[in-house]
Amino acid sequence: MASNKRKTVLVAGGAGYIGTHTTVELIEAGYDVVIADNLSNADLSAVQGVERIVGRSVPFVQVDCCDLDALRQEVFEKYPFDSVIHFAAYKAVGESVAEPLKYFRNNLDSLLSVLTLMKEFEVHNLVFSSSATVYGQPDELPATEQTPRQRANSPYGLTKQMSEDMIQDTVAAIPFMRAIALRYFNPIGAHPSAWIGELPKGVPNNLVPFITQTAAGVRKELAIFGDDYATPDGSCLRDYIDVVDLARAHVVAVDRMVELPAEDDRQRYEIFNIGTGRPVSVLELVDLFERVNGVPVPHRIAARRPGDVEKIWAATDKANEVLGWRAERELGDTLRAAWAWEKRVRGLE
Ligand code: UD1
Repeated sequence: MASNKRKTVLVAGGAGYIGTHTTVELIEAGYDVVIADNLSNADLSAVQGVERIVGRSVPFVQVDCCDLDALRQEVFEKYPFDSVIHFAAYKAVGESVAEPLKYFRNNLDSLLSVLTLMKEFEVHNLVFSSSATVYGQPDELPATEQTPRQRANSPYGLTKQMSEDMIQDTVAAIPFMRAIALRYFNPIGAHPSAWIGELPKGVPNNLVPFITQTAAGVRKELAIFGDDYATPDGSCLRDYIDVVDLARAHVVAVDRMVELPAEDDRQRYEIFNIGTGRPVSVLELVDLFERVNGVPVPHRIAARRPGDVEKIWAATDKANEVLGWRAERELGDTLRAAWAWEKRVRGLE
């Protein structure tokens, strides 16, 4: 950071998977952090994992970010923030199709509260956790930030598109505000300490937690959703980004906004893809996991999962050049970290 003055960041949804990793990286970069989370899809032990890694206590407020008054009284009136990172959202694609109103209510309401209070308390900087889902299946790959967004293929995806638009219009109307939307590709892995990681409640929807739980014997076998796609081995292609690399992208985004002079309003709303730029198939990922960890993952080919895109990966030039950020961790190391975390959670070894 350019300034010696410690800056305070509100991490809304900070007890979750990406929020915990980001909190660690922020603190290690010299920021103070306050976590606000309703623990609807997270556990207090995740915050304790963060505290263990950084070696000090982290202010935590259990509050629903949709509750404007509670967020005002318990968080914004108590701490002086410079920046907010907004993670407080649901993210299960299938569930969002079954319960769209739940997704609209939670994901949009929590963002509205945050924006309203940022305006009220003159908080300048927002980082928003967006997703590659906003691209749908792009006609051209890799997807760049200019690749046209397509109609979202789930209510979850629609909340990400709507949130981006709400932020853009809000920032345009409030001269002191700046925002950066980070479009994550597929975040995976865990902190190398194995003190924090992804701990989905119930049956995992996402690939890597399903792999690690299958390797641990919690699930009988992994279903590979489709081997008849127009890809080299027939399974879907994705861009898997290490969660610690992703967490660092948030720090760099906050740094950028903190360091930009107040009168410089050329770039008040920016979007960055956060991925590796490298497509990896589902079958390649499973194979690499088995090889680096020396553990079998029983799997079978199953039908395609409705709503899945065939292939997507990121153009990362903008994040590389403008943010000076790039993915650093090797995929094998990421999969080792994911397995180390699962083993610790399950008490294996
Ligand atoms: C989806 C969303 C993404 C969202 C993320 C978070 C889309 C296009 N993507 O990512 O925006 O942020 O969920 O929940 O909406 N797979 C299997 N077997 C499994 C699980 C997954 O074969 O048991 C395959 C999938 O078919 C896919 C790949 O693994 O090809 C990755 O799936 P997943 O981890 O669920 O992420 P996405 O669907 O890519």
